[in-house]
Amino acid sequence: MADTDVAPPEVHHYNSIEEVPWDIQNYWAQRHRIFSQYDDGVWLTDDAWFGVTPEPVANKIAAHLAETAPAGRCILVDCFAGAGGNTIAFAKSGKWKRVYAIEKDPAVLQCAQHNAKIYGVDNKITWFEGDCFQILKNQLKDLAPYSVIFASPPWGGPGYRSDEVFNLRTMEPYSLETLYKEYSLFTPHMALYLPRTSNVKQLAKFVPEGRKAEVMHYCMDGHSKALCIFYGDLTVQQ
Ligand SMILES: C[S@@+](CC[C@H](N)C(=O)[O-])C[C@H]1O[C@@H](n2cnc3c(N)ncnc32)[C@H](O)[C@@H]1O
Repeated sequence: MADTDVAPPEVHHYNSIEEVPWDIQNYWAQRHRIFSQYDDGVWLTDDAWFGVTPEPVANKIAAHLAETAPAGRCILVDCFAGAGGNTIAFAKSGKWKRVYAIEKDPAVLQCAQHNAKIYGVDNKITWFEGDCFQILKNQLKDLAPYSVIFASPPWGGPGYRSDEVFNLRTMEPYSLETLYKEYSLFTPHMALYLPRTSNVKQLAKFVPEGRKAEVMHYCMDGHSKALCIFYGDLTVQQ
């Protein structure tokens, strides 16, 4: 495994706005909300700024998943770890015997590993570099009966913001159907983090007859940042 203390060329810790590329300067003002310990040396690739779950939202999702996990489900698999926003919150929650974090981009994975060390939770996480669908089928298959999946997939770029209703069938590179069907082979218990305008009818299509699924919006400053759908009888109490 790569040395997480030496940043590869595409990984940065910016110290001032002058260093930040113009297309991510909007995010600079929010850096402490994204990672409250940003100043301790948090690493991000320039692309990761767009997709990272802000810490207050990640903490809330972690609290909800901790509350909803059925008895005997003591492992959390974070399928798209990114720079570690959600993975770190799950590890911090203290709920899970182990957090398994999968990320296919090696530089982004190095960010997550480094950031988890800053937050003091690296020892609670097992990291995988690669494709989550393959890793679930191969390396993690024996853990399926004990696992809950969390997935914050790519949404196909910032264009999702202009859609009045976000089409989950054409979501790139993985449609809702692909995610749901692949993850269902592993566990029925999954939470998917999706655009706030996601088409609710499309979300409902995967709820078994006579069952319910909860949709939770996660808000900051009076605006929904995103929603989570909880499939597989994961019922959030509050
Ligand atoms: C929206 S970001 C996740 C952000 C993360 N939740 C965070 O808070 O930092 C999606 C990530 O999924 C990764 N990815 C895309 N396809 C993947 C796959 N098949 N398996 C694993 N990771 C994948 C991308 O490289 C990207 O880093």
